[in-house]
Amino acid sequence: MAIIRSVIRGCGASLPANCVSNAELEKKVDTSDAWIQERTGIRQRYIAADGETTGTLATNAARQAIVRSGIDPSEIDLIVLATSTPDQTFPATAVTVQAELGIQVGAAAFDIQAVCSGFVYALSTADAMLKGGAYRRALVIGSETFSRILDWEDRGTCVLFGDGAGAVVMEAQPKPGTIGDRGVLASRLHADGRHRDKLFVDGGASSTQTIGALRMNGREVFRHAVGKISSVIEEILVDTNLTAEEIDWFVPHQANKRILDGTAKKIGIPEDKVVITVDRHANTSAASIPLALNAAIEDGRIKEGDLVLMEAMGGGFTWGGVLVRW
Ligand code: UT7
Repeated sequence: MAIIRSVIRGCGASLPANCVSNAELEKKVDTSDAWIQERTGIRQRYIAADGETTGTLATNAARQAIVRSGIDPSEIDLIVLATSTPDQTFPATAVTVQAELGIQVGAAAFDIQAVCSGFVYALSTADAMLKGGAYRRALVIGSETFSRILDWEDRGTCVLFGDGAGAVVMEAQPKPGTIGDRGVLASRLHADGRHRDKLFVDGGASSTQTIGALRMNGREVFRHAVGKISSVIEEILVDTNLTAEEIDWFVPHQANKRILDGTAKKIGIPEDKVVITVDRHANTSAASIPLALNAAIEDGRIKEGDLVLMEAMGGGFTWGGVLVRW
């Protein structure tokens, strides 16, 4: 009997024009290119200029994803946008994308806030809504301007993050219901709010009426990351009866190269199957996975039929994974 699968039809990305190297940061902050590269693998990041916002980056990434998917914007009936840096407290940045791109009037559109796990949460949510049968084509976006919530006096955080956006178009298609199907094959989402004080923004509409700035206990986040990420990947492999060797591409959230290497090693995925963009983009939170996906599609690594495993962990803590046959 056929079942519905959410098949990814197109991917797109957008980065601000301004690329800032570690050497340029050395002039503003008490840091060094050597420290940043050794501890994180980051060489540069993109920083949004005045007028470039989460909404404009999201719109550009989404436009590219829609063109590449070969469908008309009017055919999209669901927009899920993951961000922790929305243009406004409300309305959702998703409705800006809807209006800018001429997406179907009456489509459902909303933002998801799960910090660095946002894209995984958004993909999983859109997948469930497509599988529910009420929607046919979803635009799923991760877009961030973390530069706007950084404390540029705090060298422990400001060197780690960057701005950008990535998007995919997913379509509900009937499939046989086997592991060979294209589309989302499994997803798992988790959170543990007991750790909400380890990575947070110290402001907000209801508490301080300010935007606030990002605060992180980096060592604590690091300590939890590899274990949580590895366990969610294990769950997905068990759910799908697959082994790590069968994964074609591992596309992790790009926070820190040491976390990526540690996770890949722990689950047994060889280095040459890990897509790494943290060196170029730094940590772009909810945008990092779709930016990495887009890079690996553009350079010809990810091809139709490949098994692509995504995972993320971030503030909350939230964490999760999604397995897709491209
Ligand atoms: O997206 C998910 C959220 N984020 C993450 O996954 C981040 C997880 N954590 C990390 O990636 C790492 O903990 C960091 C990269 C943030 C920090 O690396 P670390 O090896 O844990 O360094 P540390 O915080 O223990 O600091 C070591 C030293 C300290 O100096 P002392 O006290 O040993 O003299 C810091 O003051 O490095 C110093 N330091 C810096 N030095 C130069 C901290 N930031 C900088 C900097 N430049 N930017």
